Amino acid sequence: MTESPPLVVEPFSSSHIRDSFACGYEALDTYIRRYAGQDIRRRVSLVFVACRAGARVISGYYTLSASSFRKDALPAELAKKLPHYPVPAAILGRLAVDRSCHGHDLGEYLLMNCFERVLQASRLIAVHAIIADAKDEKARAFYQRYGFKPFADRPLRLFMPMGTLEQLLVGRETRR
Ligand SMILES: CC(C)(COP(=O)(O)OP(=O)(O)OC[C@H]1O[C@@H](n2cnc3c(N)ncnc32)[C@H](O)[C@@H]1OP(=O)(O)O)[C@@H](O)C(=O)NCCC(=O)NCCS
Repeated sequence: MTESPPLVVEPFSSSHIRDSFACGYEALDTYIRRYAGQDIRRRVSLVFVACRAGARVISGYYTLSASSFRKDALPAELAKKLPHYPVPAAILGRLAVDRSCHGHDLGEYLLMNCFERVLQASRLIAVHAIIADAKDEKARAFYQRYGFKPFADRPLRLFMPMGTLEQLLVGRETRR
């Protein structure tokens, strides 16, 4: 049996094949097909895509941007010790996997790839936390498995301090 080539995660470019991408959410499909390139050019989001090595067909993607939040938006126990001015964060605005790949750990792989990128970025510019925007309660359940906590005022917006993110990556590394 021939094995599939390994997955690579790389910055989105116009050479990626995206017309057939379908994750089950129209808005996330339309975004990668039509708007991802525009957002990159405008420098409002970076978009990273997973493809099989040597191929250009997108199996999954996520977006990353800089953001900030106010401590009042967090549950009290998470807001302790934070300043009263806006706190810097990275935002995982979208995460999607093509239906043909659902249930094969690609969503988790992309999430960990995103965490690694945010951790690297946080060594150059202060990032207190990563924020994820879930489309619905099912998506929120996916993020909560990894330790994200909902904001107090927007239950589909989730939060993870960088300390938790770092521990999670270290824990996974030591289990390998
Ligand atoms: C959510 C999504 C990214 C998950 O991708 P995936 O590749 O199917 O997920 P994985 O195979 O990596 O799943 C990793 C783990 O999360 C679990 N999981 C997957 N989707 C889940 C969900 N909606 N709720 C809770 N757990 C979920 C899996 O069972 C698996 O757990 P296991 O290792 O114990 O079996 C994918 O289903 C998707 O693109 N959905 C549509 C878009 C969407 O909801 N995006 C989320 C952010 S808006």
